Amino acid sequence: MISRTIIVIISIIFSMSIKAQHINKNTETKIDSILKLMTLEEKVGQLNQFSSLEIITGPIDNSNSREDYFKRGLVGSLLNVTGVDEVRKIQKYAVEQTRLGIPVLFAFDVIHGYRTIFPIPLAESCSWDLDAMENSARIAAIEATAAGLNWTFAPMVDISRDPRWGRVMEGAGEDPFYASLVAKSRVKGFQGNNLSDNNTLVACAKHFAAYGAIEGGREYNTVDVSKRILHEIHLKPFKAAKEAGVATFMSSFNELDGLPAATNKYLLQETLRDNWNFEGFVVSDWGTFGETVIHGTAHNINDAAIQAINSGSDMDMESMVYLRELAKAVKDKKVDESTIDLSVRRILRIKFAAGLFDDPYKYLDKEREEKLIFSPKHLEASRDMARKSIVLLKNSTNILPLDKKVNKIAVIGFLADSKKDMNGFWSAKGRDNEPTTLLEGIKDAVFKNTEVLYSKAGNINKSTNKEIEDAVKTAKQSDVVVVAVGETKDMSGEGASRAYLNLPGNQLDLLKELKKTGKPIVVVLMNGRPLVIPEIDNTFETIVETWWLGTKAGNAISDVLFGDYNPSGKLTMSFPYAVGQIPVYYNHKNTGRPENSTRFSSKYIDIPNEPLYPFGYGLSYTKFNYSEINLSSNTLKLGNSITAKVTITNTGDFDGEEVVQLYIRDIVASVTRPVKELKGFEKIFLRKGESKEIEFTINSDMLSFFDVNMLYKAEIGDFKLFIGTNSKEVKETDFSLVN
Ligand code: NOJ
Repeated sequence: MISRTIIVIISIIFSMSIKAQHINKNTETKIDSILKLMTLEEKVGQLNQFSSLEIITGPIDNSNSREDYFKRGLVGSLLNVTGVDEVRKIQKYAVEQTRLGIPVLFAFDVIHGYRTIFPIPLAESCSWDLDAMENSARIAAIEATAAGLNWTFAPMVDISRDPRWGRVMEGAGEDPFYASLVAKSRVKGFQGNNLSDNNTLVACAKHFAAYGAIEGGREYNTVDVSKRILHEIHLKPFKAAKEAGVATFMSSFNELDGLPAATNKYLLQETLRDNWNFEGFVVSDWGTFGETVIHGTAHNINDAAIQAINSGSDMDMESMVYLRELAKAVKDKKVDESTIDLSVRRILRIKFAAGLFDDPYKYLDKEREEKLIFSPKHLEASRDMARKSIVLLKNSTNILPLDKKVNKIAVIGFLADSKKDMNGFWSAKGRDNEPTTLLEGIKDAVFKNTEVLYSKAGNINKSTNKEIEDAVKTAKQSDVVVVAVGETKDMSGEGASRAYLNLPGNQLDLLKELKKTGKPIVVVLMNGRPLVIPEIDNTFETIVETWWLGTKAGNAISDVLFGDYNPSGKLTMSFPYAVGQIPVYYNHKNTGRPENSTRFSSKYIDIPNEPLYPFGYGLSYTKFNYSEINLSSNTLKLGNSITAKVTITNTGDFDGEEVVQLYIRDIVASVTRPVKELKGFEKIFLRKGESKEIEFTINSDMLSFFDVNMLYKAEIGDFKLFIGTNSKEVKETDFSLVN
């Protein structure tokens, strides 16, 4: 216990808080003193992270007693332990009973809410509302910290161009510029202004890197991308997260250029530390050090440990490889003890930043836990975020918004009344029985004389003929039909790659039978990824994408269906026309033979090149008219800026919001450039009949890219500038960048 006292004394002498990512001299001196007190074994212990055995999301090695390791002070962090009582018990032991009394970091996957569940991140990203996303992360942090946690494994900032990959639900879609802004907002939301506050969570940018580019969209598969695409597409949001001060990174499962990310020096050392000056620490993903043996780049776990630490991996999540092998590797002179010291330093730095050395119990307050979690204020924010995340895909006969005074309304589909599915995957401590369903939301919204009929129509994987017939009967008795179809929550997320992206089971048959009734039908999609739905688009006039919206899902969807909220969401991932198009994304290259009417051009002979719904697409109940673009000048001098103005007019019958999008194309450059790249956007509110002039500033930095020598700079030449309501429907003009 002597050394615990020493730490307390050191803390008092230097008592002050630091901000993450800023090396503070006093903190570093404190860390020097702690390092001097530590045995090699204890240092390795700080690099070790165990999971509570209650939540297991990968293979575990349970051959040695975890408790014994813990008692010896050989656990730097725990994941999946939650709740003030549980955390206090463990923290108290760490602080009072282990030799050095170093507090533990408690981590959890707080991805879209802690207990008040917000929409899945992909859905939130469709709001194009950065403040709202920051607020959603802030509330998640308030609740998670009230439950004793101090570290979240979020935000996931992987770029998603392949909807077969189940994890697209965790990110912000396909565009690196937009995903970077979202990454910043989420980091700010989790970490707040000061990590040492008792309601801020250490955030974690994951999965570093290029996990979204796994071949065939198959989970944990190989990645092979060029350095250019790596930096220009996949690393951008990570860099943005670093700039926003994210305190930790998580390396990914995949290999990159022949090396697993966990032992990839180019990523972890050269890029993250040497080029970006990241000062926090890197945690592995679950068991990935051990998996390097299976990848075939390490002979055994000793080799794996040596490679991992020498590549810049600081903390070992659940593989026990460091615990078992690092001390030996130092003794064998395969690893320098100073390398281990550096990793320990990075971890202690974040523990200091989180204020754990000042007060290891600072997050642990029962009263806060009871008062803050699932509060009415948080539920209201979740409902608001959910409404903003909904994307109206089609409303060609203006069935929507519905009249609350309708006589009879049929609500159909398993998902229309499945509470737990509304939470979506990775829903932390969200309870299965807490979300409102669509059926409940509709019942809540309509007038008291309206009759709401419900038919479950079987389940997602199978509906019998009888179940479909019953649903049809219900539809026939009604004035309007709202049918919910899509995926259950475990059909997306980690370990849920899909090769077919149509509606699972015979949901399409159900839809077709309903169509035959001739009733007005609203198709409500609930899913964790873009689906392939050309047939639905062909058959139905009204389609609403609602993803998985969290605790207030049913109310939020009803707000949109009945016009209490005019939908404003825009897709951040293209909806493919067919699986064969994947990867499909708006910012593709032109090729040497862009599509034309001849055979020998870049196209399919059986489907269009264009996705069904493009990036940036989403409708409103009102209409927006775009004027031509007015440029302040057609020439932009290097280092200067010009402005582009458009006037948007709300020409429809409702007040509404529009996301005005700016895209640019570099026509000729030293390397091929995308046909369009998002460079700015503004979300505006316009009353019926109102007009507004929107001005974008374009400076030459915005035109930078990795040139033929991998230098990040703008090249003089001609550009196209587009402004529009989505990535396809745009007004267009030209300008030149000159010296
Ligand atoms: C594996 C996942 O890839 C990662 O995102 C998550 O944070 C960890 N498991 C811990 O649950």
